[in-house]
Amino acid sequence: MKSLKNTWKKYTAKQQPYYKDKKLLNSTLKQIQNLPPLVFAEEIRELRICLNDVFNKKAFILQGGDCAESFANFNAINIRDMFKILLQMAIVLTFSNSHPIVKIGRIAGQFAKPRSEDFEIINGEKLPIYRGDIINDINFDEKSRQADPKRMLKAYYQSAATLNLLRAFANGGLADLNNIHRLNLDFIKKNSFYKKYEQLIEQISKSLAFMKACGINSNNTQSLKTTNIYTSHEALLLDYEQALTRVDSLSGEIYDCSAHMLWIGDRTKGLDEAHVHFLSNVKNPIGVKISSNDNFETIYSLNKILNPKNENNRLNMIIRMGADKIEKNLPDILKNSKKEGLNIIYTIDPMHANTIKIDGYKTRNIEKIKKELQLFFEICKAEDIYPAGVHLEMSGQNVSECIGCGVSQNDLYKRYETRCDPRLNADQALELAFFISDLFKKVQI
Ligand code: PEP
Ligand code: CO
Repeated sequence: MKSLKNTWKKYTAKQQPYYKDKKLLNSTLKQIQNLPPLVFAEEIRELRICLNDVFNKKAFILQGGDCAESFANFNAINIRDMFKILLQMAIVLTFSNSHPIVKIGRIAGQFAKPRSEDFEIINGEKLPIYRGDIINDINFDEKSRQADPKRMLKAYYQSAATLNLLRAFANGGLADLNNIHRLNLDFIKKNSFYKKYEQLIEQISKSLAFMKACGINSNNTQSLKTTNIYTSHEALLLDYEQALTRVDSLSGEIYDCSAHMLWIGDRTKGLDEAHVHFLSNVKNPIGVKISSNDNFETIYSLNKILNPKNENNRLNMIIRMGADKIEKNLPDILKNSKKEGLNIIYTIDPMHANTIKIDGYKTRNIEKIKKELQLFFEICKAEDIYPAGVHLEMSGQNVSECIGCGVSQNDLYKRYETRCDPRLNADQALELAFFISDLFKKVQI
C-alpha cells in the first residue's frame, strides 16, 4: 500500500494565502483530514474508464460551471439550474452526434482563485486581494480580506451538501429522459433557437414512445432514468487538497477525494513547482490549462511528470489560447504530440483568453468564444487529433455577464453577479451546445 506523501512541500507553491494563525490552520487541517472523503475512489476510477472512451473518440467531455462558487450564492435553486443546463446541453450534444457526453461540473469545490496581483488598492487603501471564499471574503475591509482557515471547513460542508443534491438529481426523477420537459428553464423560452430545442425534445419523446412499445422503459433500463455527473475544480489550495487526499483501501492507491477530476491553472503549472508535484502523486484524472505562452516542450515535460506511463485516460490538456492566437500556437503542439505518441486528451476552454474589459466590467463576447471553438475543431481535424471536449464558465441563471444572444454591452450592469470571471447565462450556454453540435458535422469529426 502506498503512503501519503507531502514531498510537494519541498517545491515553491505559488498563489497560496498567508495564514496568520498557524495553530488554527493546523488544527483545521487535522479536522478535515478526519472528515469523510467528498468523492470515492471507485467513482474516480469510473470517470477514468469514461475518459478511455473519450480518448478513443467514442465520447465527448462537457465541463462547466461557475468561475468561482461562493458561500452567498449557495442554494438549491442554483444547484438545480446548473444541473439542468448541463443536462440540456448534454442532450443537445448527444442527440446530434450520437456520442455519450461525460458531464463534469466546475462545482462542489471550485472555491479558490488564482490572481494576477497579491494586493488591491481602492481609494488609496491597500488590502490583500480576494482569493475565493475558501480563503477570504470579497468585502473590501481588513478583517474580510484576512485569510481564515475556518473557511476551508465551510467550503468542505458546502461541497458535501452540493454533491448530495447532485447525486439525488442524477439518480432521481430529474435525469429521467421521460421527464425531459421538466429540464426547461423558463426564461430560455423567449429565445430564437428555443424552437430548435423543442423540436429535438419532441423527437426524443417519439423515440422513447417507440422504445416503450418495444418493452424498453425507464423501469427496466437504468440508463434512461439516471445519469452520471462528476465534479472538478482547480487544485489551487494545496493544504486543503492534501487534507482530502486518501489511500484507497481497495486498491492501495492514492486519490485526492475533494473531487473526481482536478486541474492545474495556467499560473501554477511550473514543472518544478508544488502543484505539478502534488498532482503527480494522485491517481485522479488531471487537467492542465495551456495558454499561448506554452509550446510542445511544456506539453512533453508535463506528460512525463504527470503521466509517466503515458496512459490515455489520465491527462487532459485544456487549451485556452484565445481566438486570435490559437492558430499560431496550437498546430505545432498537436503535430508533435501525435508524432511522439503522447496519449493526451485535448479539450478547449474558449473563455479565459477571450476576456475583455468594458465600462469596468470583465466580459466575453460570444462571437470570440465561437471563433476559438471553431478554430480548435478545425486545427484538431487538420492534425488528426480528436477534439475531446469543452470547458466553459457558465450559470444556470439569467445573468448578464457575457455579450451576445440578447445581452449587449449596455446590459452588463443589470445582472452581473459573478465573483470572478464572466459566465455564459443558460441561453448562451444552450446556444453554444447547438453551435458545437454543428461544428461536429461541419468539420466532420
Ligand atoms: C479558471 O479556470 O477559472 C482559471 C483561472 O483559468 P486559467 O488558469 O486558465 O486562467
Ligand atoms: Co475563470
